[in-house]
Amino acid sequence: MPTLLIMNGPNLNLLGRREPEIYGSETLEEIHKSLQKAFPEVTFQTFQSNSEGALIDRLQQAKGEVAGVVFNPGAYTHTSVALHDAIRAVELPVIEVHLSLPEARESFRRHSYVTPACRGRIAGLGPLGYHLAVSALLAMSEKKP
Ligand code: DQA
Repeated sequence: MPTLLIMNGPNLNLLGRREPEIYGSETLEEIHKSLQKAFPEVTFQTFQSNSEGALIDRLQQAKGEVAGVVFNPGAYTHTSVALHDAIRAVELPVIEVHLSLPEARESFRRHSYVTPACRGRIAGLGPLGYHLAVSALLAMSEKKP
C-alpha cells in the first residue's frame, strides 16, 4: 500500500480554533487521526508549515518517497506561482483540498495558482475532502501497472 503525504499550508495549524464557523471544529491532528483510522493500510506522512519555502522544500523531498500528495495550500493558493511550479516540477499526483469553498467567499479567493498544476481539486466539504482526496489517490495508484 502506498505512502501518501498530507500537506497543509499557513494557519491550518490553528484548525479547531480558527473561524470555526468557516473551517469547522476539527483540529488538524484530529483530521490526521481520522485519516489513519479510515485508511489503516496507508502510511501517512504529514507536514504543516506557515512558510512557503518550507512547503516547497517538503514537496521536493516527497518526490520518490510518496505515491501522491493531498495539499491544502491555505492562502498561498491565491498567491503562489512558486508552489504551482514546485507541484509541476515534482511530477507527483497532487490533489488540492480546501475545507471551505473559496469561490463562495471573498473575490480574492476566486483564483487559484495551484489548481492548473494539480491532478484534481476538492473544496467546500470540510474534513471529508481530505478523505475523498486519499480515496482518489489510492484509486489512481491501483490503476498503475
Ligand atoms: C482554505 C481556503 C483559503 O482561501 C484560506 O486562505 C485558507 C483555508 C480552506 O481550506 O478552505 O487558509 O485553504
